Amino acid sequence: MISPEDMEKLIRPEIKTMPAYIPIEPTEVLSRHIDIPEEKVIKLDGNENPYGCSPRVKRALTDYAYYHLYPDPEQRKLRKELQKYTGISAENILAGSGSDELIDLVLRLFIQPGDKVINCPPTFGMYTFSTNVCGGKVVSIPRKPDFSIDTAAAKKAIDSGAKVIFIASPNNPSGNLTPEPEIMALLKCTAAVVIDEAYYEFSGITLAPLVPKYSNLIVLRTFSKWAGLAGLRVGYGIFPENLLKYLMKIKQPYNVNAAAQVAALESLKDLDYLQGTISSIIDERERLIMELGQFNWLKTYPSQANFILCRVLNGKAKAIHEGLRKKGIFIRYFNTPQLQDCLRISVGKPEHTVKLVAELKQMR
Ligand SMILES: Cc1ncc(COP(=O)(O)O)c(C=O)c1O
Repeated sequence: MISPEDMEKLIRPEIKTMPAYIPIEPTEVLSRHIDIPEEKVIKLDGNENPYGCSPRVKRALTDYAYYHLYPDPEQRKLRKELQKYTGISAENILAGSGSDELIDLVLRLFIQPGDKVINCPPTFGMYTFSTNVCGGKVVSIPRKPDFSIDTAAAKKAIDSGAKVIFIASPNNPSGNLTPEPEIMALLKCTAAVVIDEAYYEFSGITLAPLVPKYSNLIVLRTFSKWAGLAGLRVGYGIFPENLLKYLMKIKQPYNVNAAAQVAALESLKDLDYLQGTISSIIDERERLIMELGQFNWLKTYPSQANFILCRVLNGKAKAIHEGLRKKGIFIRYFNTPQLQDCLRISVGKPEHTVKLVAELKQMR
């Protein structure tokens, strides 16, 4: 019988050496860590929607009668409704199990081991993670100090053979948009330009209408943030038709489960309600920025998303993160070269802001 050691030798070497993705913990684990009841946890670390999903989604999930059947592999109803929502033809739309799956699918479409993918850090970690899983080579083009893209360096990297570039706009964790002219400049190059609009509903700015005009533009979206469906895993991409046919071919046949399809469809029927929660989050974002402004040891960055990046100027970012955690308030702490002493705070409900600010006042 083959030994576990010999079995390990069969594993692809790049998988053994690649760093693991560090995901956020669920509320029940956080509550156990600090021994407080789950309902007392203030979870501002995942850019999730504090208002949850539309109440209609819960009813639709209860009433759905076909959980015993496989879902539609072509996601026909969902794509048709997304056509109405986006104004882009269903022929350009494909849904995934979260936009995470679509990031992976795009890379599996283009990347063979050794192929180059451009990442613009600091940014969402899944671009690097999924490139590594494919055996691709991540070419890092760091953002400038104001977190804008270094377009000239990115163009150069594409010209030297990169196949895909990812740009989150608004970017996670910095919250800023990449202006359209900069993306237009990249579209002239010969790589797939993937614009990740996970936070589109909070910024109102999109490049989706351009997709049918450019054979190398891809726009990714998700129901995780604005529609409060992070737990059900449903996102979608807007793709040039010539690419969509291959993505349809290589995706798992039933990649978006029945519950996720029902929930997404029902969300699209309850846009007035969801627009209300989006507006509440945007209002709260502005209030939170203002409130954080009272701390002269905190520098906040402007945000077009549902979170705020702050730099802690007194060197106590880690202590603040820990201190808040002990009080049941969970935020993200970063200490990479570009995000030295940084915290990212997801926008919560007004009462979450009140509690957060009260605790921060104690921490001066
Ligand atoms: C920029 C960005 N893209 C994609 C995602 C993942 O979205 P989904 O839940 O649809 O996989 C996130 C989640 O935080 C994100 O910040």
